[in-house]
Amino acid sequence: MTSCWARSKVISEPLRVERLSAAHDRSTFSCGNAALDRYLREQAGQDLRRHLSAVFVLFDRANDVVAGYYTLSACEVDPTSLPSEIAKRLPRRPVPATLIGRLAVDLDYRGLGLGRTLLANALIRAAGASLAIGSMAVIVDAKDDQARAFYEHYGFRRFVEDPYRLFIPMAVAIRHEREG
Ligand SMILES: CC(C)(COP(=O)(O)OP(=O)(O)OC[C@H]1O[C@@H](n2cnc3c(N)ncnc32)[C@H](O)[C@@H]1OP(=O)(O)O)[C@@H](O)C(=O)NCCC(=O)NCCS
Repeated sequence: MTSCWARSKVISEPLRVERLSAAHDRSTFSCGNAALDRYLREQAGQDLRRHLSAVFVLFDRANDVVAGYYTLSACEVDPTSLPSEIAKRLPRRPVPATLIGRLAVDLDYRGLGLGRTLLANALIRAAGASLAIGSMAVIVDAKDDQARAFYEHYGFRRFVEDPYRLFIPMAVAIRHEREG
């Protein structure tokens, strides 16, 4: 699984992306968005057990702390909500996609490239899964302008009528996967 060296002086080991388990202490997780914090602390384990979301954490083993997390789920997209040059190549019925439901980095670990690490890991995972179960794009609902700017920085594009719903074609995610 992906590992990286963070640049903070308090981090002395590579952080690893791991499937959430009871072994991960997430009680102190704080990303500045109360709903995202609460989800990880109170809801993520239950969603995982009920197979509603796959939850992955970026784990700082040296400090025994969850530094970030993301979730993936299946979803459907109405092709007419996509830009016309993409919609015209799709059937006129809902098509399958993969949703990044949540993605966040703890405030203590911001600006170290960990958001990029999590997003790359999510895209690579979605791309790999799409080879077994069809999915035409990765979708995300940005919470605000800053979150949207983060995703657009990595090539996500806006839906036509919902400027906070963004997508990246699976073909692009697969290229990420092949190029590592
Ligand atoms: C968005 C978020 C995940 C970014 O995490 P981070 O670890 O600080 O970001 P990184 O250090 O990995 O930044 C990677 C790149 O994204 C850029 N970036 C980070 N935040 C950005 C923003 N708001 N707008 C534009 N670019 C941004 C950085 O400049 C950096 O660019 P570079 O690779 O060209 O140098 C983090 O701010 C966060 O958790 N926010 C609160 C939760 C949230 O809004 N989540 C997204 C919606 S669900």
